[in-house]
Amino acid sequence: MKVGIFGGSFNPVHNEHILIAERAIIELGLNALYVIPTFVAPHKKGEVVASGEDRLNMLKIAFLSNDKIIVSDYEIKKQGVSYTYLTIRHFKKLHEGAELYFLMGSDMLDNFSTWKNPREIVDNANIVLIERRNGNYNANKLITNFENTFKKPVTRLKVYGTTVSSTEVRLRVMLGLDTLSLILKEVANYIAKTNLYGDNPLYNRVKNALPEKRRVHTLGVILTACSLAEKLGVDKKKAELSALLHDLCKYSDISDFPSGTVPENAPSDVWHQYLSYYVAKNELGVTDEDVLNAILYHTTGRPNMSKLEKIIYIADLLEPSRTFKGVDELRNAISKDFNSGFLTCLIEIEDFLVKQGKPVFDLTRQAINYYKGENYELN
Ligand SMILES: [Fe+2]
Ligand SMILES: [Fe+2]
Repeated sequence: MKVGIFGGSFNPVHNEHILIAERAIIELGLNALYVIPTFVAPHKKGEVVASGEDRLNMLKIAFLSNDKIIVSDYEIKKQGVSYTYLTIRHFKKLHEGAELYFLMGSDMLDNFSTWKNPREIVDNANIVLIERRNGNYNANKLITNFENTFKKPVTRLKVYGTTVSSTEVRLRVMLGLDTLSLILKEVANYIAKTNLYGDNPLYNRVKNALPEKRRVHTLGVILTACSLAEKLGVDKKKAELSALLHDLCKYSDISDFPSGTVPENAPSDVWHQYLSYYVAKNELGVTDEDVLNAILYHTTGRPNMSKLEKIIYIADLLEPSRTFKGVDELRNAISKDFNSGFLTCLIEIEDFLVKQGKPVFDLTRQAINYYKGENYELN
């Protein structure tokens, strides 16, 4: 008898989870696979986590038709931090004599030795690495490290479907965007019916202010900004908030704002950065100066920008729905070296504006001069 264990926060369960579960059953020849949502995923603190009951309900809906899959409330019921060695102990007892297979992602395998009682886990279960498409890691190296440390082989489970993240699903729901390419229709219906993830006032404000296309752009800016923030050691929550609000007033009427909100000589393309800043500060109660400045200078840039300001500027320009000529080269420049890539982006923008016969705002010129100078000194 072979029994699999597949844990996670499942917040919510998405199409890639379903694919992983189905592949695991076939490839590993499992008689049963337990899908076990964690009570609280310790690394996900600060994110919107649906209640245990809702996550269980969505899993039951998603796996209804596969009778080898058992959705387990073991960790939810137990409450507190979920320790894998205890979960393994529990299922070992439940299925005496069975061979256990524990499924994990690359990040889990990477920090496995820091878990509680890793030896007990390895002694009682086969470790299965879920290899996803576009995984930003070296599987061979991870496995070699693991096998050298624990003297146990790792089973590889290749799941090369579309990469989906629960974070994107939640953001899409919060921005009122379609989720049907990421989750089952039945799960989407459950989320809609229960208004899961739907009661965030700032997201609702953006949802009501922007047309669909601009919300898709905002989603892209949030995801890009958060991933840059993580890489550069900037607070992800601040990146998310700045990205969420950066284009809030893209479609607002300037005459609805007090005079002086926008500088007199500012071209109309940049008005919305001043208006969005104004609303964030005066109506939405945003007090963090860095967040406010990231919104305020996201179109023009300025000299001496903070890391967060640069992140929002870059995310706005290069998020996935941007398709202008040369965008991939700029993405490469940024991933190679953030600061010099940033200057390249500023210069490209100036070039673009000049070629289009559009005005280059003073602030943008000042920013370019400033960063060119800085670069020159660095060299
Ligand atoms: Fe903008
Ligand atoms: Fe934007």
